Amino acid sequence: MSVLRHQGATLHYREAGQGLPLLLLHGFPLTSDSFWPQVEALSGKFRLIIPDHRGFGESEGGDQPTTMDAIAWDALAILDALAVPTAVVAGVSMGGYAALALTRLDPGRVKALVLIDTQVGADDTAGKAKREETAKAVEQKGMAVLVESMMPKLLGPGAPPEVRARVEKAIADNSPKGAAAALRGMALRPDSREIVARFAGPILVMVGAEDVITPRANAEEIAGLNARAQLVELPGAGHLSNLEAPEAFNRALEDWLNRLS
Ligand code: MLT
Repeated sequence: MSVLRHQGATLHYREAGQGLPLLLLHGFPLTSDSFWPQVEALSGKFRLIIPDHRGFGESEGGDQPTTMDAIAWDALAILDALAVPTAVVAGVSMGGYAALALTRLDPGRVKALVLIDTQVGADDTAGKAKREETAKAVEQKGMAVLVESMMPKLLGPGAPPEVRARVEKAIADNSPKGAAAALRGMALRPDSREIVARFAGPILVMVGAEDVITPRANAEEIAGLNARAQLVELPGAGHLSNLEAPEAFNRALEDWLNRLS
């Protein structure tokens, strides 16, 4: 892991491979490790750059809510540190919100977008209240709150036991403070429909056929916003399609990346 100090946080990030830079932004409440099948299969072909977002994994956060803009600025600082002018920016769920924030903040750095098991709308009032309630519960009782509430929804019924165990451990090992800050940050995110609609580059939208958190309807909405968007559904996968259907996921992503240039 490499380390960078940026805006009150100590950021750790993984780098693997060479070639077209692919920035991978992880979902909530996971870490950069949640891209292990992509590191294994794609690092021989592309340059993977994978941060632990502030407050997750080995990265320490600040005291403020971890907004999607903060994650995006951190990722841009990592690209700056590596002298990477443009990258394909990919994000899973919360990572997708951050990818859209990065596209709004600095569209010139985004060669193409990959939006995985995510959505473009903002939280409604009830959704924001639920985030705050969960943030308080996590601060009081720890990560067990998220293990219990999220494990049944994150993975589809066919997810292999070793994937289930690794995801559960990643959640349990994360810091309650970091998770609470990200819950509050997600509640602050704006609607991103305009970002998708105005993006001039190619967009790949990927969704697990059994995703119950951001189902296919969310992916169809994203793909319908931009004529350059392409939708890929991954059979047998839930919300973490890159872990649950890694071979189909990697093949679809690699084919699409190879067609970019
Ligand atoms: C995620 O997987 O990152 C979360 O489910 C996103 C969210 O809570 O909106």
